[in-house]
Amino acid sequence: MKTIEVNLREANYNIYIERNITNKIIKYLQENYNNKKIAIITDSNLEKLYVENFKKTIEENSFNTKIISVKPGEESKSIDTLKKVYFELCDFKLGRTDLIITFGGGVIGDLGGFAASTYLRGVDYIQVPTSLLAQVDSSIGGKVAVDLPWGKNLVGSFYHPKAVFIDPHFLRTLEKRFFNDGLSEVIKYGCIKDNSIIDELINYKNEKELLDNIDSLIFKCCNIKKIVVEKDEKDFGERMLLNFGHTLGHALEKYFNYKHYSHGEAVAIGMVHITKKSEKLNITEKNVSKHLEEVLKKYDLPYEIPEINMEEIYNSIFLDKKSSGKNISLIMIKKIGVGIIKEVSFEELENYI
Ligand SMILES: NC(=O)c1ccc[n+]([C@@H]2O[C@H](COP(=O)([O-])OP(=O)(O)OC[C@H]3O[C@@H](n4cnc5c(N)ncnc54)[C@H](O)[C@@H]3O)[C@@H](O)[C@H]2O)c1
Repeated sequence: MKTIEVNLREANYNIYIERNITNKIIKYLQENYNNKKIAIITDSNLEKLYVENFKKTIEENSFNTKIISVKPGEESKSIDTLKKVYFELCDFKLGRTDLIITFGGGVIGDLGGFAASTYLRGVDYIQVPTSLLAQVDSSIGGKVAVDLPWGKNLVGSFYHPKAVFIDPHFLRTLEKRFFNDGLSEVIKYGCIKDNSIIDELINYKNEKELLDNIDSLIFKCCNIKKIVVEKDEKDFGERMLLNFGHTLGHALEKYFNYKHYSHGEAVAIGMVHITKKSEKLNITEKNVSKHLEEVLKKYDLPYEIPEINMEEIYNSIFLDKKSSGKNISLIMIKKIGVGIIKEVSFEELENYI
């Protein structure tokens, strides 16, 4: 088993990475939540695949548990679903010293984490992320939220879990398109901080070899996120590096009403597009964008910007919450493994995006 310690001003917790992690979770529950009630928030896919058995196993160890299951997908990251979750927590009479487990992808982690941060002014929760995106990104760093009709993640907080339990074995049942979505974030980590991630991805001969080695890739990504979040918990500096490819990515997702590109696909296009531009401006070494295209192509991720009205994209970027005052912070790479933050004004934006 691999363990990463996250040390923050307000919270310290461990990320455990191990195949078949249930026994480790039981031991942790016995040591920390003996005789406590446990609400497991999940979606109906994960409920059938893993959570029903997981509940049986923890009940065999004398815990009183309840499954709160929601519909799979982004539409469950809503105020309506949150209300349903609060009602079920109340029905179960979950108390302030009891525990919530979020068992699922990024939607469940964000929704369940936000419920944990607000129900009874905050109860403990642990994350059991099951999608690649959740295992390398959303389960770490304490950002929890739900969406509003006006946009994504508009109501949320920073609220850290007491522990994160990552089982790479769960990934074998994840649909390919969701797996590739997560890979786009893995590639992002490689671009901003660790070129060995990109080298590995380029060199794997097939999917099996990738899956056999995914544990070490997950470890590398979690470790990068830990280091970045420790330096900048509230996202005013270094943490912005994690937005590489996301400025154009978010704008593209929105432009197509979240229907055409998945998040990972939009980020993939965003990473290549800004790198082509920064190469022209001599901020990035030559041929880096080609290298990036090569790895994205290998994993069936898009990299060409579609025919779109760029004016609309620029306006949408400036309305995005990341733009502060007159300038916007854009993330670029000098070469693979070295990310930088650059402040750009609205007038300069088209040189970069
Ligand atoms: N909090 C953060 O820092 C942060 C960072 C990045 C993304 N996010 C959020 O994460 C969300 C996206 O996360 P996601 O891509 O995991 O989406 P998701 O939670 O909707 O999961 C994708 C699909 O995969 C299924 N699934 C998950 N794990 C599975 C498994 N092991 N086997 C079979 N099916 C499985 C789910 O049921 C769902 O249908 C977005 O809402 C995004 O805003 C949050």
